[in-house]
Amino acid sequence: MIRFENAGKTYPGQARPVVDGLDLAVPEGTTCVLIGPSGCGKSTTLRMVNRLVTPSEGRVRVGGADVADLDPIALRRRTGYVLQGIGLFPHRSVAQNVATVPELLGWPRRRIAERVDAMLDLVGLDAGRFRDRRPDSLSGGQRQRVGVARALAADPPVLLMDEPFGAVDPLERGRLQGEIGAILRRLGKTVLLVTHDIDEALRLGDRIALMREGRLVQVDAPERLLARPADAFAEAFVGSDRWLKRLALIPAAAAREPVAAEGAPRLPEGASLRDALGLLLAADAERVALAGEGTVTLASLRAAAVDAAGGFTCAP
Ligand SMILES: Nc1ncnc2c1ncn2[C@@H]1O[C@H](COP(=O)(O)OP(=O)(O)O)[C@@H](O)[C@H]1O
Ligand SMILES: [Mg+2]
Repeated sequence: MIRFENAGKTYPGQARPVVDGLDLAVPEGTTCVLIGPSGCGKSTTLRMVNRLVTPSEGRVRVGGADVADLDPIALRRRTGYVLQGIGLFPHRSVAQNVATVPELLGWPRRRIAERVDAMLDLVGLDAGRFRDRRPDSLSGGQRQRVGVARALAADPPVLLMDEPFGAVDPLERGRLQGEIGAILRRLGKTVLLVTHDIDEALRLGDRIALMREGRLVQVDAPERLLARPADAFAEAFVGSDRWLKRLALIPAAAAREPVAAEGAPRLPEGASLRDALGLLLAADAERVALAGEGTVTLASLRAAAVDAAGGFTCAP
């Protein structure tokens, strides 16, 4: 559990706080995405958790303890930190990078070596191939995988991620978001992730905390943020296509019709209503086949979307 209690930060010589009276709890095993325009205070908020920034008011708790009272080693044990791109030590091998915190904690050599291989395996990198490589010989996506392996190496309950997929090309980014998101859920990590990308937030967040000028505007589950943005800023931030974004959160199976799929183009496993709409249009087809049984038509898709939206507020 991460808990901000009236946390604020004013830098010396600045008139206005950069983060102001922030109250936010991230329950155990869930992912909260901090999102907002550049400069709104997201990174400052995140860095108050691992004490790279000291709050000038209020406090931050991790697992009940005020982080101000933890010694640096105890704090490193509790929190992993993943940064965009540049976070790896360039002169250390992949294995040495992943071993950073276990070494700091004084684990025996053998246990570290085993852990490094297990972590590389976990993030989809073949240990034999990647262990001795240098970060600059890796692609952006591979570097981010190493960054996640490093952050998870000492098995901290809390993971802090600051724009972790920002430096990765779009194709690889989607794959990484899916894979890393699934790993963090499976391991039951408590995650605070910063991004300015609304699609990433919708995809990864159990809850999304929208910030503006150092304050929280809205903290809600993705569907609720899309269905009921709290004010004009939130509505503009999620985008005028929020109906379409919402389709991405609903499984295509919600629009299932028990009709045989002969010859219809087929959706992949786990497809959303947005995928179904895309395929219906792209293939100019009457109906598309679900990965299991049954099909989806424009009419069944529309009915499922309206049904799932119960109470969706539309701009006039
Ligand atoms: N060390 C610092 N000293 C003074 N101002 C800072 C410092 N770090 C960040 N800021 C300012 O605080 C504001 C919020 O920064 P940041 O938390 O990095 O925003 P975000 O991550 O949302 O883009 C910005 O205006 C930034 O210039
Ligand atoms: Mg930032």
